[in-house]
Amino acid sequence: MIPTESFRISPAVFTTKGEDETFSLGFSLAKSLGEGSVVALSGPLGAGKTCFAKGIARGLGVKEAVTSPTYTIVSEYEGDTIPVYHIDAYRLKGSDDFSAIGGEEIIFGRGISIIEWRENIEEFITEEALKVDIEISGENERLIRIVTGKQ
Ligand SMILES: Nc1ncnc2c1ncn2[C@@H]1O[C@H](COP(=O)(O)OP(=O)(O)OP(=O)(O)O)[C@@H](O)[C@H]1O
Ligand SMILES: [Mg+2]
Repeated sequence: MIPTESFRISPAVFTTKGEDETFSLGFSLAKSLGEGSVVALSGPLGAGKTCFAKGIARGLGVKEAVTSPTYTIVSEYEGDTIPVYHIDAYRLKGSDDFSAIGGEEIIFGRGISIIEWRENIEEFITEEALKVDIEISGENERLIRIVTGKQ
């Protein structure tokens, strides 16, 4: 478990060795999220965005398995106290596509949103959102940079 204080530094930079550590980092980050938080992830295919999202969801009390079905853009889960949305923007062609599926209501609502491929819906990523960049730095190593949003 990584202490919550570690995430107050911005950017907070971590190196993980293996998917368990990336999951754990997400799990720990969950403790510093609250109603309406948006975690916006970026990083290449296979970087570990879903792995990190799974950790966050578990940390928020989601019991159900978080998956990434190919054609599902938004998945809703029940957290301890608030809904958790996992959004995979990979297949979205832009913000209009996201609006068409009611995206704003989700990310500007009271639930917690975790977004993969934030660059595809960048108009909706506000300064308050937490931005997480994952870089592949080795076969099993990832460089994870977290920029805290403006409060
Ligand atoms: N340190 C690490 N952290 C996370 N995943 C790792 C790490 N090292 C190796 N991996 C592997 O990298 C892959 C990450 O997959 P994951 O689905 O989380 O990536 P993704 O960024 O969501 O990809 P996509 O762009 O396809 O959605 C897994 O196969 C995992 O085992
Ligand atoms: Mg993914």
